[in-house]
Amino acid sequence: MLDLLVINATLADGQTRMSLGVQAGRIAEVGKGLNLPSHETLDAQGQLLTAPFVDAHFHMDATLSYGLPRVNQSGTLLEGIALWGELKPQLTQDALIERALAYCDWAVAKGLLAIRTHVDVCDPRLLAVEALLQVKRQVAPYIDMQLVAFPQDGVLRAPGALDNLKRAIDMGVDVVGGIPHFERTMQHGADSVRLLCELAAERGLLVDMHCDESDDPLSRHVETLAAETHRLGLHGRVTGSHLTSMHSMDNYYVSKLIPLMAEAKLHVVSNPLINITLQGRHDTYPKRRGMTRVPELLAAGINVAFGHDCVMDPWYSLGSGDMLEVAHMGLHVAQMTSQAAMRQCFNAVTSAPARAMQLEDHGLEVGKSADFVLLQARDPIEAIRLRATRLAVYRRGQCIASSPPAQTQLNLPGRPANTTFMPNFTHTRSTT
Ligand code: FE2
Repeated sequence: MLDLLVINATLADGQTRMSLGVQAGRIAEVGKGLNLPSHETLDAQGQLLTAPFVDAHFHMDATLSYGLPRVNQSGTLLEGIALWGELKPQLTQDALIERALAYCDWAVAKGLLAIRTHVDVCDPRLLAVEALLQVKRQVAPYIDMQLVAFPQDGVLRAPGALDNLKRAIDMGVDVVGGIPHFERTMQHGADSVRLLCELAAERGLLVDMHCDESDDPLSRHVETLAAETHRLGLHGRVTGSHLTSMHSMDNYYVSKLIPLMAEAKLHVVSNPLINITLQGRHDTYPKRRGMTRVPELLAAGINVAFGHDCVMDPWYSLGSGDMLEVAHMGLHVAQMTSQAAMRQCFNAVTSAPARAMQLEDHGLEVGKSADFVLLQARDPIEAIRLRATRLAVYRRGQCIASSPPAQTQLNLPGRPANTTFMPNFTHTRSTT
């Protein structure tokens, strides 16, 4: 006897009338029209059942700090960095934990059940590291969290940053971070990439670096990252985040760079909401979009995910933890409007980030954890179009969040009375 049977679901790959059986928190059956005994049945009514959303690039130590100690008036990266510098000395562990837990509540409501968050290690007190390690333990029953030791002010440039980063790793942080374009020189940036990749290889850790987050066409750190990944045999364990300079690079150079990245099996995380708002700020017109070359990277077989990066923090005043909003922006900025490309944008906030984070349990397959989201949409493209309502969010076979379907009651002259308008359905007359 199953604990739960989901029937009549549409899957992201287009299969319809699918059933999914859950036993002891894991997926026990997947098939078309299964009719198996179960304690509980959920009729998906043809709606899209997907593996949970995953965000492979976030800053949970800064999230929901909007307005502290003041609002970023200009909305620029530079004022954001200055603001974070003002806020850092005022951070307390309790406040960090409270904000992170509040964001995790938002995330669950949006079906976002795995988050890789960078945590700034430049403050020698490592308050944020301690706070987020505690949050990670606390939310483990419902969110898979990975922490990246992130030297925001430069591992070589900021005094004590390397020691702090090593201490953070000793405390249990999972991934080695970096920010080579923020080091004093291009050479120092390359040195930082080498040093941090060696550290990750030594400790058996993953790597995820903020890399070439600028409009400088001559920034070359992702090249070094690919070369070091190859040299140290870290294939498939390294992620390059942002890579916005690739937008501005010379095409001939990129034609050599992308195969190097593919050879190293680098993962790429682009952050469309943040890239489109922060990059190109030194341009007059035309203004560059500042997002990396997503379609070209995908065409080379490179795993590309979209991250949220920021929600209501010194750098970005908006956001709600909705990865469909992230996919929506990525689709537009990269002009990924073909049918196949729009589906790739959905993968970029589900399966692709799960791969970058090496989440073995992600996916609607037999034997995996029974984690899934029922959306008020009939397919991934409609889900992105509508930023669809998360009707139900399941973790290990338990419903941990639910929302009523979005619908509006219309009373319009010349139209049938009491028409119920649901965004993903044609009009239906109310029967009451
Ligand atoms: Fe970031």
